[in-house]
Amino acid sequence: MVDRSITIHHLPTPTKERILNQKNSFPDSQLDQTQYTVNGILRYEKVFGHNFVSTGGIKTTQELFAEINLTHGAKVLDIGSGLGGSAFYVEDNYAAKVTGIDLSNNMVRLSNQRATERNSKVQFILGDCTKIAFEPESFDLIYSRDSFLHIEDKDKLFQKITSWLTPLGKVLITDYCCRSNNWPEEFSDYVKERNYTLHSIETYKNLLEQAGLKILQSYDNTNRFLLALETELKHLISIKDEFLQNFTEQDYEDLIQGWEKKIIRAQQGSQKWGYFYAQKS
Ligand SMILES: C[S@@+](CC[C@H](N)C(=O)[O-])C[C@H]1O[C@@H](n2cnc3c(N)ncnc32)[C@H](O)[C@@H]1O
Repeated sequence: MVDRSITIHHLPTPTKERILNQKNSFPDSQLDQTQYTVNGILRYEKVFGHNFVSTGGIKTTQELFAEINLTHGAKVLDIGSGLGGSAFYVEDNYAAKVTGIDLSNNMVRLSNQRATERNSKVQFILGDCTKIAFEPESFDLIYSRDSFLHIEDKDKLFQKITSWLTPLGKVLITDYCCRSNNWPEEFSDYVKERNYTLHSIETYKNLLEQAGLKILQSYDNTNRFLLALETELKHLISIKDEFLQNFTEQDYEDLIQGWEKKIIRAQQGSQKWGYFYAQKS
């Protein structure tokens, strides 16, 4: 049963990053009924690692932040914050003041529980990043890991993100991308079934630039994606007995097949993993 009591009104009042147009409560998003049921989230976490629902888990986070120079005490917005793994990491390692926003009730409820358990000050907000309004110039870094695949109107979102950044503020994104054409039928079916909106890395970069961001670095990180997928698959196989103490054979098979298919799509070049680091210009 989803706890509907979590709304921004139950969170400490944010300072500059005050929420302007947030509603009191949200019905479950469709994602809560499909990809991000509680069972769906927790079984993903078994593969990605504690507090993560994205490629490479904590290792990817460590690698991403090792490559940039995040200022101590920076104001950070994590969009699609999931279980909060990255938000907790930047809070712990950079004393960052972190706000996480996520559309899924289940994700926000779980991340808030975990924040309480670790005495974290991260504010996890239930909300749709395409609809919420933060005050302009609220964040030094806007970060998002493998979440914008769910967003159709990325151009509008990127414009909003630009306005929320402080002058010279940065954006750090990893996201699922794709080959621009010749999609195998299986890949088209997967994207349609998940309701993802994917772009080529070039198009993604153009969307960021059109929103007023200067690209500092962007690249196709699919080789790293493949490496992570292979490691995660091996890990899942190695913990099968433990996994089956909490989940079903069907859960196990779904994950194994899901990972095997992602590996094939990445090897074929239809599914790609993009890295984008940009600055408000
Ligand atoms: C693959 S998960 C990644 C979670 C997290 N970034 C991580 O690294 O573990 C994608 C997340 O994006 C969230 N999401 C999807 N659409 C969203 C939206 N419109 N606004 C905010 N969050 C959204 C989902 O609920 C989900 O938690």
